Amino acid sequence: MAGKAQEDITSVLHENRLFKPNSDFSKQAHIKSRTAYNQLYKKAEKDPEAFWADLAKKELTWFKPWTEVLDWKPPFAKWFVGGKINVSSNCLDRHLEGPRKNKAAIIWEGEPGDTRTLTYQDLHREVCQFANVLKNKGVKKGDRVALYMPMIPELAIAMLACARIGATHSIVFGGFSAAALRDRINDAGAKLVVTADGGNRKGGVLTLKDKVDEALKKTESVETMIVVKRTNSDVKMKKGRDYWWHEEMKGASAVCKAAQLDSEHPLFILYTSGTTGKPKGIVHTTGGYLLGATVSSKWIFDLKENDTYWCTADIGWVTGHTYIIYGILSNGATTVMYEGVPTYPEPDRLWDIVEKYRVNIFYTAPTAIRALSRLGNEWPKKHDLSSLRLLGSVGEPINPEAWMWYHKVIGGGNCPIVDTWWQTETGSIMITPLPGAIATKPGSATLPFPGIEAEVVNKKGKKVPADVGGYLIIKRPWPSMLRTVWKNPKRFKETYWSDFPGVYFSGDGARRDKDGYIWIMGRVDDVMNVSGHRLGTMEVESALVSHPTVAESAVVGAPDEIKGTAICAFVTLNTGHKPNEALKKKLKAHVTQEIGAIARPDQIRFTNHLPKTRSGKIMRRLLRDIAAGREAMGDTSTLEDYTVLAKLRQDED
Ligand code: WTA
Repeated sequence: MAGKAQEDITSVLHENRLFKPNSDFSKQAHIKSRTAYNQLYKKAEKDPEAFWADLAKKELTWFKPWTEVLDWKPPFAKWFVGGKINVSSNCLDRHLEGPRKNKAAIIWEGEPGDTRTLTYQDLHREVCQFANVLKNKGVKKGDRVALYMPMIPELAIAMLACARIGATHSIVFGGFSAAALRDRINDAGAKLVVTADGGNRKGGVLTLKDKVDEALKKTESVETMIVVKRTNSDVKMKKGRDYWWHEEMKGASAVCKAAQLDSEHPLFILYTSGTTGKPKGIVHTTGGYLLGATVSSKWIFDLKENDTYWCTADIGWVTGHTYIIYGILSNGATTVMYEGVPTYPEPDRLWDIVEKYRVNIFYTAPTAIRALSRLGNEWPKKHDLSSLRLLGSVGEPINPEAWMWYHKVIGGGNCPIVDTWWQTETGSIMITPLPGAIATKPGSATLPFPGIEAEVVNKKGKKVPADVGGYLIIKRPWPSMLRTVWKNPKRFKETYWSDFPGVYFSGDGARRDKDGYIWIMGRVDDVMNVSGHRLGTMEVESALVSHPTVAESAVVGAPDEIKGTAICAFVTLNTGHKPNEALKKKLKAHVTQEIGAIARPDQIRFTNHLPKTRSGKIMRRLLRDIAAGREAMGDTSTLEDYTVLAKLRQDED
């Protein structure tokens, strides 16, 4: 075993409430009943290739049909082999032929309150123009383009423009540091970077261009930078390298034919944390990804022509890729985009936006739900939220209390909640209720999407009995699955396909109850889920040991009421350095500089030794117990130095 699926998993959550879909909702839904779901599921199980091929024909527009549905040489899959397609023309061009032409594709609101609405026709025009800008700058099919941008319409335009000409985008979340951006640019070998002078955040400005400048000092591949003017911040433009977006767009032609791309052409790379210090470039391709994105958006969010849909994620994460842009626009729906933080200028900003645009479908993360519920019901109560008809949750397990608050206070008791489990790697949602068909239980992601064979197994890969914890695996390839890790097929194999040969291992623990419902229990590897964002413990450790005072460090997650997990770092200093508060601050700032504010440790604990087994392995389970303030319950008989443990407890913050 690659060593992730090591510990036995004990499940403690027991929740018996059941919420049946209300009949009015079910009647109008795409998937109307449990029977309909069962039939779809069985059909897909019996002949998955035929199931997906039917949908690919019905839901997507192809230039040329495929000759083979699936080429599966484990663990490498190719879907719709020989087919030619373009994601941008599926998201735009095909909606221009009918009444959707003048429908809002994107309704955007900036944090200061400025707004912009782009119809499908507007968006198409700007995407074509920007695609021509990219071409003018020498970007060709297969080149990589890095996008390091705030949540503004230009980000959507840039993604779709890349997709239009077959450039592979690599979006780097604006909260990542210059160093993290540099590593991602170098790994992908990006030729061009799109950024902005800044973005609005919490009433201030998040600077971006200066971080790109910093990153580009140590990158070889980037030839050009395009800069959107957003905040009028003072930036330095380097002649011959940096160009303003608005100036380039001025003269650009609005005619740009969508490239006829191979179904397996790489659409994007998105870096995500793993168990080593180096993030992995998850590679998604064209036809299969778009199919997963399109069908899941339609069935899970029950998207209809009149819906206004809003997902509050940042496009820098996979949720934004699939469920703000590709899956939603491919369905011809209206997607809302918001630039800023949920609590600016007041804690009711999200509810204000829901009321203003009469949002019907709202998708967010448990960490936001928990944080907003804590601020009091008076904030949502100030607003008319009656337009909402469906709520969604993603990114981490949602605790039943948060689920109930979401259901009652935001949904007014009338909206189904879809708790959707998936990952950067899966490309689209894998385990979820279909809102008109499946009764929900607070805290459970319920059942696999049709065509997805999920199972909970023990270390040996055997299905575990009901209500016993185990490892969450996916038994068959699916169209929107990752194809590889960029430039590292070996890591792809080892990380996902070696713990349980031939099947995909998610890295999550789960249990299935007696009704077959799946309850996700969180990561079983050294990956933390901090406010719904994935971070490898090793990544934070590498950042810490790159500081000259640090000899060794071990990072673990500790339970946190709002963030889900807080970052707790145990640090051993080099001789000659003394632990003190000032150094704690310095180390926290150092991690922010190396990775970004999302990785800033909540606690730093200095210790003379880290508890290790006789073979020198850090005893993480023990550290997790200490960080959580629990007694160390695990087997400590291999502990090298028992006194270390007692010492660590005394040193609590
Ligand atoms: C966790 C985000 C419980 C899980 C789409 C997974 C969840 C990781 C859920 C992927 C959910 C995501 N319930 N846990 N509904 N959704 N997760 O790649 O641990 O940023 O492995 O993708 O988030 O995070 P990622």
